[in-house]
Amino acid sequence: MVPLLSLENLTVRFSGAERPAVDGISLHIGAGEVLGVVGESGSGKSLTSLAILRLLPPEASLSGSIRFAGDDLLALPERAMRAHRGRSISMIFQEPMTALNPSMTIGAQVAEAVRVHHPKLSRAEVRERVLQALDEVALPDPARRHSDYPHQFSGGQRQRILIAMAVVNKPRLLIADEPTTALDVTVQAQILRLLRTLREEHGLAMLFISHDLAVTAQTADRVAVMQRGHIVETGAAAQIFRAPQHQYTQTLLAAVPTMTTDRARPLATLS
Ligand SMILES: Nc1ncnc2c1ncn2[C@@H]1O[C@H](COP(=O)(O)OP(=O)(O)OP(=O)(O)O)[C@@H](O)[C@H]1O
Ligand SMILES: [Mg+2]
Repeated sequence: MVPLLSLENLTVRFSGAERPAVDGISLHIGAGEVLGVVGESGSGKSLTSLAILRLLPPEASLSGSIRFAGDDLLALPERAMRAHRGRSISMIFQEPMTALNPSMTIGAQVAEAVRVHHPKLSRAEVRERVLQALDEVALPDPARRHSDYPHQFSGGQRQRILIAMAVVNKPRLLIADEPTTALDVTVQAQILRLLRTLREEHGLAMLFISHDLAVTAQTADRVAVMQRGHIVETGAAAQIFRAPQHQYTQTLLAAVPTMTTDRARPLATLS
């Protein structure tokens, strides 16, 4: 079967840097599959996700290949790329607090995400999609609260609003870059449950990026471990969590104690 997304020998380099920030990585994601990418700060996770959307900073040079649903993304004209971005591939960025516009109501922001890709929809149709998306991410009372501003919501609710924006156009692939890092542990667990539900209900494939191997192992089917721009280990999530082969993966597991890193408990009970 042809994967939904495949990266071959992807390399991102900044001029003047000693070594590439992403150094020839290859990975693939099947339709409806969740691939977790873990690695310490600076290992190249965010650059990999930005490369997929062709949103790298201009000073970065990119080589290798990125194929998505039959398209060679690096060869597409910018116009065709814009049609993918936010529609068939969407992304939740690492900084949930800065990703929303503070001076626009949240309903207007989700509506804008719809209108960019569906300019012909009527106001009523857009509104219906917005309310449905806000309802789907379990934002309380969407019919009343869609006209509130971002500062009127909690951190967890703001993350739900960003997820609503990301899924409102029913993408095939969602890139989630550290979607829960800024949240406390209870809210983090709620957001992870929400992502799992969306995945089950829509067959959404996901690239789930985190520095926390325990959180990733709960969420992903397979996990790729990145270190200094390389993938050092890939495998089924449960297998990597229980029996990490690479020394770096073992270090990652030992490194960050979170409420969910009790490895004595079976993985299935971690959530
Ligand atoms: N604009 C830039 N110019 C030069 N180097 C950069 C630039 N952006 C990123 N880098 C370097 O590329 C490497 C990978 O960065 P990246 O943001 O992908 O890391 P990351 O794995 O997402 O880390 P974190 O977990 O902290 O988010 C880092 O060493 C970083 O310093
Ligand atoms: Mg990052």
